[in-house]
Amino acid sequence: MIQGKLKKSVGWAALQYIQPGSIVGVGTGSTTSCFIEALGSIRQKIEGVVSSSEASSEKVKSLGIPLFDLNDIGIVDVYVDSADEINRKMQMIKGGGAALTREKIIAAVAREFICIADASKLVDMLGTFPLPVEVIPMARAWVARELVRLGGTPVYRQGVVTDNGNIILDVHNLAILDAVFLEEKINNIPGCVTVGLFACRTADMALIGSEQGIKIMR
Ligand code: 5RP
Repeated sequence: MIQGKLKKSVGWAALQYIQPGSIVGVGTGSTTSCFIEALGSIRQKIEGVVSSSEASSEKVKSLGIPLFDLNDIGIVDVYVDSADEINRKMQMIKGGGAALTREKIIAAVAREFICIADASKLVDMLGTFPLPVEVIPMARAWVARELVRLGGTPVYRQGVVTDNGNIILDVHNLAILDAVFLEEKINNIPGCVTVGLFACRTADMALIGSEQGIKIMR
């Protein structure tokens, strides 16, 4: 499948932006999984990795890459992760893999955020992909009502419990005209842990893979 090849090519292309001795943050998902594989090939050259999910941690450990707890390190040199959607302002929707909270934490700590994605993720306007929101379980109905007040249609992601023990609401039909405003608004709903809008902290660079090659956006 072509999308699989593109994910692999951007995953490996990201290696050239990893400096020797770096602490590298890794995201979650099939594209990032390709990057982690690539990182395994230079594991002796980097200091180690901080990971955004149990799934990525397992992969990191299986490749023999040193894994750090974020609390034990000062700075993350570079964070590499994919997105469900990215626009030309480098704002993203993330959380398709339910790892949005830890992803946002590492993105906040990182000096540089590189988004790797196949071209199907590049959009003019965010919001076709339903916006994931991680929610404390007891606040599910309340947060859902507040999201309806904002014009969205929240759908409970059945059977999914995040690594933090919470649930996910996927919000359909949102017109995301001002992504920074909406990110702050949803984050302020009591019971919302994290909204999967990455607009306040955007990516610094994106590698977008298509059949024509890899386009660099800054
Ligand atoms: C996980 C994410 C992923 O980056 C996003 O879902 C893209 O995943 P994939 O690389 O599998 O298409 O935000 O929470």
